[in-house]
Amino acid sequence: MKASALALAVLLFAPCAPWAQQAAAPRPAASSASLFPPAQPAWAQAFSGFRLWLDSPSGNSALSAAPSLMPLKTMPREQAAAALAPLVEHLPAELSQKMSGAAALSPEEQKTLVLSLNAAREKAAPAVEARVAQALHETEAAADPAVLAGLASQVRALSFYGPAVQKNYEQLSGRMHELTLKNAKANARALLEGLRKPEELGLPGAKAPRVGATGLLPPSLTPSDSRAWGLENVPDSRYSEDLKRAAEALAARSPLELRRAQKTPGLDGLFSRIWGFDPKLYYHMVRVGLMAADLALAMGMPKAYAQDLAWAARLHDVGKMDTAVHEVISKPGRLTPEERALMESHPEIGAGALAEQSRKPGRVWRMAGVVARSHHEAFDGSGYPDKLRGKDIPLEARITTVADVFDALMENRPYRPGLRIEDALAVMEKERGRYDPKVYAALLKVLGRRPAPPKAEFSAAPSLWSRFLAWVRRADLSPPYPGQPGDQLRVAGRTYTLGRKLYEDSVSTAYQAEGNRDAAVRLFKDPAAFESERAGLQDLAKAGLPHNRLLAASAEQPVLVQETVDDPALDKVLASGGPAEHQLEALADLAALLLGSGLKADLSPAKLQWHRWRSEWRLLEGRSLRPGKAGEVLPFFLGLPGADHAAFLSAVRGRLGPDSAAWRSVPKNLLAPLERADAARAPAPVLKFKPGRLDPALDDSWVSAAELKKRLGYDPFTQKEKRLLHTDDPGKLNTRILEVRAQGHAPGVLKSASSEIIQNEVFLRKAARRWFGRYFDTPRALAVSEGGEATMFMERVNGERSYTGKGMSVAQRVALGLLVHTFGVGDVNPGNLLYPARGLPSLIDFEQALGRHTPAHRIAHEGILEELPWVNGWDAPATEDFYPAIRAWRELLAKPETQADLARMMADSGLSAERARRALQTVNENAARLEWLVQSDVEFARQFIRRQAR
Ligand SMILES: [Fe+2]
Ligand SMILES: [Fe+2]
Repeated sequence: MKASALALAVLLFAPCAPWAQQAAAPRPAASSASLFPPAQPAWAQAFSGFRLWLDSPSGNSALSAAPSLMPLKTMPREQAAAALAPLVEHLPAELSQKMSGAAALSPEEQKTLVLSLNAAREKAAPAVEARVAQALHETEAAADPAVLAGLASQVRALSFYGPAVQKNYEQLSGRMHELTLKNAKANARALLEGLRKPEELGLPGAKAPRVGATGLLPPSLTPSDSRAWGLENVPDSRYSEDLKRAAEALAARSPLELRRAQKTPGLDGLFSRIWGFDPKLYYHMVRVGLMAADLALAMGMPKAYAQDLAWAARLHDVGKMDTAVHEVISKPGRLTPEERALMESHPEIGAGALAEQSRKPGRVWRMAGVVARSHHEAFDGSGYPDKLRGKDIPLEARITTVADVFDALMENRPYRPGLRIEDALAVMEKERGRYDPKVYAALLKVLGRRPAPPKAEFSAAPSLWSRFLAWVRRADLSPPYPGQPGDQLRVAGRTYTLGRKLYEDSVSTAYQAEGNRDAAVRLFKDPAAFESERAGLQDLAKAGLPHNRLLAASAEQPVLVQETVDDPALDKVLASGGPAEHQLEALADLAALLLGSGLKADLSPAKLQWHRWRSEWRLLEGRSLRPGKAGEVLPFFLGLPGADHAAFLSAVRGRLGPDSAAWRSVPKNLLAPLERADAARAPAPVLKFKPGRLDPALDDSWVSAAELKKRLGYDPFTQKEKRLLHTDDPGKLNTRILEVRAQGHAPGVLKSASSEIIQNEVFLRKAARRWFGRYFDTPRALAVSEGGEATMFMERVNGERSYTGKGMSVAQRVALGLLVHTFGVGDVNPGNLLYPARGLPSLIDFEQALGRHTPAHRIAHEGILEELPWVNGWDAPATEDFYPAIRAWRELLAKPETQADLARMMADSGLSAERARRALQTVNENAARLEWLVQSDVEFARQFIRRQAR
């Protein structure tokens, strides 16, 4: 075991909390209710006045003298009162009496009050901490849920006491977590055994078997509390619902889940510690555990296996609790190679820490050790730390990998918001080789996706745009029509309490969901109206139109749950000064989807919602969708005051493609502004797809080692003078690149990687040279196979590692865009596109290729712009500049000879028949969406330029 693993094991498994030792001495009884001065009317009043003042401008400016008191403004009221109360006795008497009337004090006195409070905070800290610790010790796990909730709020309030308390805070909150978990389990058991009713436990509306899910949950007494699921990190509510379903399904299948956990001693305490150490990490691990279990079930594994895995997979990242590793992963920005190496040691550290435990009996521990060590292995052998491949990787790790990657993509990161499911899947799709195909298929199944059906012909259907909440589900529980405030219903695993009535019409009644500003609930009286909603929703779903509704029908009652977007100024957004540019892009999305699907909709402001966070427009009404014509969709958008007609129409055309049937159906009379703009534009280049130069000695083919030696006139493998240029992305692709210098010969480069990567390269080099050789060069090469590995010898290209300053011609940019998007080439950054002083720009790297291409702006990381050299640095990148070239390219691709050539080149490059078939399909699908992909690049670049200009 490594030293760090040992230290971590001590941290994880030693009984370490000082309060655990203190606890041995008997202490006077204290209930958590008496921890702080009780809420006497006088104190409540004083606090109210004080809090009001804090929120006022004068309070705000006084507070700047002691910013550490700021949390008082943002804490929930009760928590703030609890945090503040112990300070009062440390205040000079004349000040404490003046707290409620702080607003009336002079600015000088206000400042004094704040400074005195801050000083009192430090004085009060030790006593407060001791009281909380004692209460924690004395509170029983079987305590009343309300008592525990009060205690939890006081533990949270501790964070307000600053550094004096910080060092013990983690332990105390860990202990609180443990207590809550035990309590939840005790309650769940009591429920399961029928000893207590849900209402008694503060779980009204819960059904007994489902509460079994509590055992899987992070600390909370209410399973509907989304924070308890750690889901505030995951913006996609659909994912949340999916996970909840997974947990519930698991719990419903076996209410004995809890007992299994009990049979594995040590798990509870361990999880408390992880939670205390880093809640975000903890929640990630919990979600991965749930998802892994669901994947296992979807693969048809036995229930017991899935249950074990739910726990074992939860521990996969335990190595990240190593302090040095944790420091690196918490650091913003790119990692240095050393930091990356440290980060990538977390599987070994974790496995080392678990090693002791895994020797104990119990399948869960054994499995956890295996998962911790191997969850970063990849099916294609490109993972770490052991570079295992295929079925050599233990199944539990293969499953966890898929759950882990998916969750990581869904999570918010400092540099990008979490991805939506479709986008996360698109990212995973590109690197499918890394995942066990069976596990990957299970992921699609769990998420309700089917693998994309093969498309025989080109079409401009925007197939990636399917983001919607189109489930028609069963409601478990629904109030009778018309319902009343306080009624509860449960849809798709979430409980809603009816709040304020919003409206009532002849067929339905709608309520705001209480405590959930983001949802409204509509109960139907008329089944026909419900059916028409359902039909409308199906239309939305089919067309991939963004919306936000969830339909459900129980035996008694059809209901609709609708996410409401809190944007009272919607009419203004649309009416004043026209749509901002980013809204214009979102409106173009909507228009293109409607046109592409042949639907029309009522697009009045009341039927649209602007979702700020996602920057998209959503349609509210499914019912009004009817087969329509372009002439009935576009006028709405063009009628918006101040809308730039040419820009809008161009954005729609860019999505659909100028040659698509949908775009051709637009009435000519609407297009005048666009035609004027087109006429004013410089003519766009038409590419000539002609081959570039090829060295007969290095003809991008596979040869034997002897043949390589013969063609070069020396043996590059045995050359002494070799220099490591770089090893690429350790753990990702495992390529190794060496420079070779032999006397009397031009320098060369040896690149070793898995055969699959080299096969990719050989094919892409041929294809690039064959059709784009006039605009680009690529190093000429020969490939040699050595078992599963392969090496490629290439000529050494020298050039500047930057294209930004040089500027390529428009034709070169267009050619590069077409090449990259058609063949799904990733990673075209300045290091991979060299610009030799004389001659053509040279694309030197193709290893990430033949994947399905995704629109750039779906990845909100600005660094990605570096990988869009075909638009970057261009004064006015426009999709229109690509049209003639795309048209010519597509005509060429559609010819049977070209398809046959592509297939033959793939076969010659060593791609298996099946891989070649899939790759060719991907190429054709990418080509069908070229306008849309380029449009998205262009918009992404414009957004970036806008932000730079600000
Ligand atoms: Fe990991
Ligand atoms: Fe992870």
